Amino acid sequence: MNAAQITDSITIAGLLSGRNVYAVTDYNVYELYPSLFGGTRHTVIAAGEKHKTLETVGQIISDMVEAGCDRQTTLVAIGGGVVGDTAGYAAASFMRGVRWINVPTTLLAMVDSGIGGKTGVDVGGYKNVAGAFHMPEQVIVCTDFLRTLPEREWLCGCGEMIKHALLDKDIFAETVKNIDDLISRGKSAYRLIEMSVRYKESVVGADFKESGLRKRLNAGHTVGHAVERLDGFRLSHGEYVALGLRAEAAMFEEELDGAYYAEVRELCGKVCRHRFPPVKAEEITATARADKKNTGGEIVVMLPTGGGNVEEKRVTPDEFERRLNRCLSVL
Ligand SMILES: NC(=O)c1ccc[n+]([C@@H]2O[C@H](COP(=O)([O-])OP(=O)(O)OC[C@H]3O[C@@H](n4cnc5c(N)ncnc54)[C@H](O)[C@@H]3O)[C@@H](O)[C@H]2O)c1
Ligand SMILES: [Zn+2]
Repeated sequence: MNAAQITDSITIAGLLSGRNVYAVTDYNVYELYPSLFGGTRHTVIAAGEKHKTLETVGQIISDMVEAGCDRQTTLVAIGGGVVGDTAGYAAASFMRGVRWINVPTTLLAMVDSGIGGKTGVDVGGYKNVAGAFHMPEQVIVCTDFLRTLPEREWLCGCGEMIKHALLDKDIFAETVKNIDDLISRGKSAYRLIEMSVRYKESVVGADFKESGLRKRLNAGHTVGHAVERLDGFRLSHGEYVALGLRAEAAMFEEELDGAYYAEVRELCGKVCRHRFPPVKAEEITATARADKKNTGGEIVVMLPTGGGNVEEKRVTPDEFERRLNRCLSVL
């Protein structure tokens, strides 16, 4: 895997003037940066998760055929995680796979979804159930794109960034020091973004096919995903991750150092200022139980325990619900 190139100016115009290049973006990015696409063959897909479908992959592939693309074509995805996942999957499928370059334009895509070569789409309302591992040849993280990013999407990326902070002691120390600056998009945000990108690369590099180490990236997501669904996707994904990290730490509070636990609560509270949604422990448990990552009837929680360490907790649904019930009132 080549390391992502991190730059603070939009330097991708040259990339798009290549001879056999095909760009994919969504309507929001296209409207904000129309000049990027002037001289390049391209498909503009509708924005949003509901368009992360096989139908959109089909649209990209048929557009590429009509534009005369071939096995030597390089697909360049420019957009958030939806564009990256969908166009990446189109690149994995077109003529049994062509090269692709990912240019993430949201904070989440820069620090998380854009790194690691997981591509795919939702089918029948089930998330990411069709997909392929298809590593981009290059990832270009161009932080200039973040200037136009709405607040909700910024906080979304911050949720995954504090997750990385809980998984790595150096990022943790920097994040605790600079959390307010990160939230308000100050200067230190850019150093933290770089640390987060490098961290995700290191985990993926060590465990491309998700057999071991990469599982730690699910921290905060057992409760986070369940609450995201039950709450009807009102907040951004990253805010639910922050709520999930805080809840999962509270569920196992007795195993954590007190000062560390307080710092985790503080960090999560800065990213998600909303109250924990009024959902019952029983509903969260039932939803978490259905998660495809669980095996043998147990629910898995990846628990950061400080110093970059993570413990895999496997608990029965009854114990999960009991632990959640015990702490729900302090979340
Ligand atoms: N492949 C992976 O490993 C992986 C990991 C995590 C998440 N994901 C996936 O990522 C997706 C979420 O990605 P996302 O949060 O980037 O969402 P997104 O792609 O929907 O982008 C969010 C919104 O921001 C807009 N946008 C993009 N760039 C912008 C910019 N520079 N300025 C202004 N607006 C901009 C988009 O048009 C969209 O409306 C989900 O589908 C999720 O499943 C994938
Ligand atoms: Zn996530």
